[in-house]
Amino acid sequence: MAKMWAGRFQKEENAQVNDFNSSISFDQRMYRDDIDGSIAHATMLGEQGIIAPEEAAEICRELGVIRTDLDEGRLEIDPAAEDIHMFIEAELTARLGDTGKRLHTARSRNDQVALDIRTNLRGEIPQIQGLLRDLTELLCRLAGEHTRTVMPGYTHLQRAQPITFGHHLMAYAQMFLRDCGRLSDCLKRMNISPLGSGALAGTTYPLNRERAAGLLGYDGVTQNSLDGVSDRDFCIELSSDLSILMMHLSRFSEEIILWCSWEFKFIELDDAFATGSSIMPQKKNPDIAELVRGKTGRVVGDLVALLTVMKGLPLAYNKDMQEDKEAVFDSVDTVKLCLRTFIPMLESMTVLKENMRAAAAKGFINATDCADYLVKKGLPFRDAYKAVGQLVALCIRRGEVLETLPLEEYRRICPAFAEDVYPAIDLEACVNGRRVTGGPAEESVRRQIEWVRQELVQFPQGAQEGGR
Ligand code: ARG
Repeated sequence: MAKMWAGRFQKEENAQVNDFNSSISFDQRMYRDDIDGSIAHATMLGEQGIIAPEEAAEICRELGVIRTDLDEGRLEIDPAAEDIHMFIEAELTARLGDTGKRLHTARSRNDQVALDIRTNLRGEIPQIQGLLRDLTELLCRLAGEHTRTVMPGYTHLQRAQPITFGHHLMAYAQMFLRDCGRLSDCLKRMNISPLGSGALAGTTYPLNRERAAGLLGYDGVTQNSLDGVSDRDFCIELSSDLSILMMHLSRFSEEIILWCSWEFKFIELDDAFATGSSIMPQKKNPDIAELVRGKTGRVVGDLVALLTVMKGLPLAYNKDMQEDKEAVFDSVDTVKLCLRTFIPMLESMTVLKENMRAAAAKGFINATDCADYLVKKGLPFRDAYKAVGQLVALCIRRGEVLETLPLEEYRRICPAFAEDVYPAIDLEACVNGRRVTGGPAEESVRRQIEWVRQELVQFPQGAQEGGR
């Protein structure tokens, strides 16, 4: 096919160069965004008298037909086209002749592509937020069922202090809530239209940039034409928000993997969300959680790719920037895929409460509470801490736990101990004493759930059970 710039060139493009240069394989997903942008541009050109209003109307009408033809598979995207922008313009011109050729007046592919990516990504954000909202609502529901499910809380992966499974789940709810907020912040900066920046230096035509932006639902227009075409911060920002989100999902996956090992056995994944081994008949593997953890590397890689592509580019547009799309689209697709699989996996898992309780009973996770008991009896904390350290060492030697150690032994180490030490170190009492805001006590976790549910209301609704 003859190139648009055939007038300037004496030779046809080398076939390999054509493929190398082409982005149609990955930018065709923006065809609706490109058509929307062109309709807004043509409408504005007509209104401004830059092209004849009748021609503008004809262009808009035909672009609508092209969109339906693409939607319904009557028109196929030509894989040899350079990109989606060229393809649609060529198709329009094939259908409308000279009128079609007027669409690109006062526009460059540089501001066109900058606009299209924004339009495309801005549509993805509410979808991801919807999935996050589903996930967070699920966490709230599960947490509500487990406000009394005592488990060990860990630091350094060593049993540390007693918490509940509900409290543990609500920690993740906080992370995903922040992820939702970050995406809203990103959307705010993304929703500014670069259209009208031209190739780099704006245009001499009397454009009404605000009008075109308004037609597309943008909140405003970019304020410097060089920046308008060369900025990809919105891709990087989204990709970085998605990397943080995946980091959260990856930590959660890591815990799920640990929890379903024989060493922990805190949960059991549903058979439909686990896999077997090709050789070891006993195996039930948490592949999904592992893949989510693995795909986190990929999303972080996309972010690093974007930063690396952009870091050395002089102003304004450079073809390097065509590399933005595969990276940012891949992070969007990967995140959606992971969330869509992770949610039902979590929803269908079985919580093995007794095993959590049994693990909590070992490991001296009430030692801090035992020291606090002595503090209440008047000892300075450091002395109490030392006495309990000696008690723990004694228990380990005798193969006991604090709950079973006889009172004489307690009193031998510190005479302040009395019979009431036993209820004070009872695990349920230890948990429910931590009523502080953000703590693991049942009432505190219920308040957390309430708070998160209220916060979630501001974000787009997800598919919930039905639509996934
Ligand atoms: N396919 C190109 C991209 O994705 C569109 C912009 C091309 N602009 C140019 N001056 N060659 O970046």
